[in-house]
Amino acid sequence: MQEKFEELRQRAKQELCDVTSSRALFELKSKYLGKNGEVTALLRGLKDVPAEERSSFGKMINDLKVEISAYFDEKEILIKEKEIAEKFEKEKIDITLPGKEQPSGSLHPLNIVKNQILEAFCGMGFEIFEGPEIDNDYYCFQALNIPKDHPARDMQDTFYFTDNILLRPHTSPGQVRTMENKKPPIKILSPGRVYRADDDASHSPMFHQIEGLVVDKGVSLCDLKGLLDEFVRIMFDDETKTRFRPSYFPFTEPSVEVDVTCCKCHGKGCSLCKGTGWIEILGAGVVNKKVLEMSGIDSDVYSGLAFGLGIERITMIKYGISDIRTFFESNVKFLKQFNRR
Ligand code: DAH
Repeated sequence: MQEKFEELRQRAKQELCDVTSSRALFELKSKYLGKNGEVTALLRGLKDVPAEERSSFGKMINDLKVEISAYFDEKEILIKEKEIAEKFEKEKIDITLPGKEQPSGSLHPLNIVKNQILEAFCGMGFEIFEGPEIDNDYYCFQALNIPKDHPARDMQDTFYFTDNILLRPHTSPGQVRTMENKKPPIKILSPGRVYRADDDASHSPMFHQIEGLVVDKGVSLCDLKGLLDEFVRIMFDDETKTRFRPSYFPFTEPSVEVDVTCCKCHGKGCSLCKGTGWIEILGAGVVNKKVLEMSGIDSDVYSGLAFGLGIERITMIKYGISDIRTFFESNVKFLKQFNRR
């Protein structure tokens, strides 16, 4: 019997030497130590051994089992190490190779400037309200004191779907929609795309505006001046001066146009400011009482300020861009110049 044990031990050892993979190791282990394995069969055969020899036999089989298990454990460690080393070798990457450049996009200059404008006013307590781009005659004109056949409609000739439905020519309808839905105090900005039947170096059929509206008790032209002076200081610099020129808009009374000292020549006069030293940046005024009343606001109790600016215009002034069409040509070389804050 002892020879049989010895033969089994040697055979297991020998076969283990030839094993080179976890899979083969697993199979060999079940051949000897598994449920139907040879060592297990010996243990099962104990019941047929005469009673007086059973205990010594049992011990021998157990010793054999412990010894063979130890061989397998040892071999398992070696195989695992070998397999991990092979895996690392296979998956090795050369970290000295230069990486592939991932070009990153950037905000469009109009978005950069829009964000700066919104931030400047939001810092002064304004909220944002976006109105629809397709609107009707009432919100675009009548509610802003521009009745049918009013000559001011010529300045804002846009694209009509029907006599009544049109692409908004300005963001001023945002004033009306806000006043209809919100009780004073009101302090809102209404940014968005607007449309006009115009196309040359300084006009585009689609461009962007931001409308501002303040309605409260006792607001006056002085507040408008303070507000816009602060805005210009944030958008340009401390040296840039503002100038209010009398103007006309049907929805404001009095109305003004606001100029800033030319950022190129600082007021001396150059080609950008056409020799005047000043550049117009926006239209504004005290909200016409008729406009307040039409939107349901008591003009004896409340007064309002409004202003409207073109984002393209401010961006062109800030960056010295002479043709509005460059914003819409998707020329990456042009757009890349703004890729820094
Ligand atoms: N809606 C005017 C335009 O598109 C801009 C404007 C001027 C808006 C004066 C205002 C304002 O709110 O008070 O030309």
